[in-house]
Amino acid sequence: MVKVKVFDSTEARSSKRKPLEAPKTDAAAFYEVVESRRSVRVYTDEPVPEPVMRRAMDAALLAPSSSNLQVWEIHWVRSNEKKEKLAKYCLGQPAAVTAQEIVVFVARPDRWKTNNEHMLSILKANPDAPAKALQYFGTITKLIYSQGPFGMFRPFKYLWFSLRGIQKPTPREPIHLGQMATWAHKTTALAAENFMLAVRAEGFDSCPMEGLDSKRVKSLLGLPRRAGITMAVSVGKRAEGGVYGPRFRFDSKRAIHEH
Ligand SMILES: Cc1cc2nc3c(=O)[nH]c(=O)nc-3n(C[C@H](O)[C@H](O)[C@H](O)COP(=O)(O)O)c2cc1C
Repeated sequence: MVKVKVFDSTEARSSKRKPLEAPKTDAAAFYEVVESRRSVRVYTDEPVPEPVMRRAMDAALLAPSSSNLQVWEIHWVRSNEKKEKLAKYCLGQPAAVTAQEIVVFVARPDRWKTNNEHMLSILKANPDAPAKALQYFGTITKLIYSQGPFGMFRPFKYLWFSLRGIQKPTPREPIHLGQMATWAHKTTALAAENFMLAVRAEGFDSCPMEGLDSKRVKSLLGLPRRAGITMAVSVGKRAEGGVYGPRFRFDSKRAIHEH
């Protein structure tokens, strides 16, 4: 059986852990952004400046990503002709039809291997690259994400994860393509949330949309079959009637569980 130690905590446990100074933050400003973000369904005609869009997309790409493989894409639909089509493929929702801008967050589980190779080539070009990083992208990610030709590794991975898992904590997923899709959507959704918060911080509004025809959207964007549309996000400035009522959340006890 392959012997793999995913993480080595011995060093971290044994060393004296000194605090590391983190940059100062403004918690009040952060909560103001989080609390004032609403899904806006009707926008005014005020255009969104290009630098705002670019800063928000850059902020999106600062989201954490699984294994730092960054299997996300942001498709900013700029041509009027395509924008009109996209709004139609978003089922003609007012949030899409009245949007000043629309971006589509796309999960690319199919790109894990090329991104992994890209990461390796960057690390190999850097003489100071930590050996651990080279080992991670040279071995570990390949064990975790490889499916093999025609998915041939899947039964072996399942068996290996299951047998190893009897004795010790073992990663169980992703084994099949559905789990790879979930894996990529998780990472991409985090980027989408960063984007929406950045848009709000810039004084604009947004609406996430998964009410769309994913097949048509993929064809519009020239995406392959295995790409997944995580969500489209429209952007603009909220108009009267654009916020559908006060914000509503269930009691937090339904969602927050302490163990
Ligand atoms: C993944 C996802 C998909 C969504 N899809 C749509 C959509 O297609 N149309 C829409 O009007 N709102 C959509 N929403 C917005 C939700 O309805 C909204 O977030 C929820 O009602 C809470 O309101 P708030 O965002 O203003 O806090 C979506 C939200 C998420 C997270």
